[in-house]
Amino acid sequence: MHPNRSFFTRILLFFATATITTIVLYRNGERWLRSLLLYLSTADWARQTATSFPPAWQVASRFIAGETSQDAIRVSQEVNQLGLSVTLNYLGESVDTPKDAAAAREAIIQLMQQIHQYGVNATVSVKPTQLGIHISPDIVHENLQQLLTAAEKYDTRIRIDMEDSHVTDTTLNLYRRLRDEDQFGHRVGIVIQAYLYRTEADIQALIQEGAWVRLCKGAYKEPHELAFPEKADTDANFLSLSKQMLSEESRRRGMYPCFATHDEKLIRAIIQHARQEQIDKNAFEFQMLYGVRRDLQQEMSTEGYRVRVYIPYGTAWYPYFMRRLAERPANLYFFLSNLVR
Ligand code: FDA
Repeated sequence: MHPNRSFFTRILLFFATATITTIVLYRNGERWLRSLLLYLSTADWARQTATSFPPAWQVASRFIAGETSQDAIRVSQEVNQLGLSVTLNYLGESVDTPKDAAAAREAIIQLMQQIHQYGVNATVSVKPTQLGIHISPDIVHENLQQLLTAAEKYDTRIRIDMEDSHVTDTTLNLYRRLRDEDQFGHRVGIVIQAYLYRTEADIQALIQEGAWVRLCKGAYKEPHELAFPEKADTDANFLSLSKQMLSEESRRRGMYPCFATHDEKLIRAIIQHARQEQIDKNAFEFQMLYGVRRDLQQEMSTEGYRVRVYIPYGTAWYPYFMRRLAERPANLYFFLSNLVR
């Protein structure tokens, strides 16, 4: 097909999907819309269309520091100046060659070197599928080992983000293996997702291990057999898991809980629980995404709570951006109206 025609067809497909999406939203509610957007986040044709269309980046950049590590360092310095710490993420996922996984590893090592050089208060978050988990367990393990060696050299820490449930077990195994091998102390942490039924058992084990854990709700499309279909159940599970992470047993074992959410009601409930249990404000932290609820980030920090902002950067922004759209339908209207303009 002629390249212009092919591009035109893709644009048409994209807008058709967006229109259907809006209709679906009105007829069937947010759950369908979320599923559709999460499907689009993994569809190659949609990625190609969106990323070859400059206005899309303009909207996506609300959530992303920029395309280069210099952009990431500059934005991190601004965030640090507000009294908030940072975790930086070099965007990229679902890599399927060892060469691409090694390139991502090198980019992340360079990032750690810059964090050190500029004295930025930042850790690093990485995705297992970016470092080769789909290629082989040895490749991802070796890449992460090299990252941990660099983390030691540049005095920072690495958190392994949690992706969809196909890799939950492998990711947890990988985390445990690295932690047990980590001769430098606990420089590696993990993420778990409140929407999965299995997470209650996982958190109990991680408490016993004194792990460094980020709890989030979960951002991927999961079947009902594995995850709560109702958001209210995920929210309730998040609070219950948070309380477990703040228990006396958890503190005795050395867990440092990180609560990743912008849900103000939930944050207030966690604070209320911590106050009741007389838990020091420095014994845990809240984490939020760059570009989301900046007012709340600042408010929590002003109240004396530790706040860390997750700041992504890089050119592979499409799937990350689509998950942000799926989390909040209002973002989609904003996105579409900008595209039309
Ligand atoms: P919820 O969806 O209930 O939203 C509460 C309020 O927050 C909304 O009313 C709105 O005001 C605001 N809000 C939330 N999302 C927004 C958005 N995209 N745009 C604008 N406003 C928004 N997931 C995962 O599966 N694996 C991971 O490793 C991580 N890592 C991670 C790190 C950090 C620091 C954060 C904050 C989140 C993650 N997540 C994640 C994503 C997480 O699972 C979840 O999808 C989002 O945080 C949205 O859920 P909330 O808990 O914020 O609440």
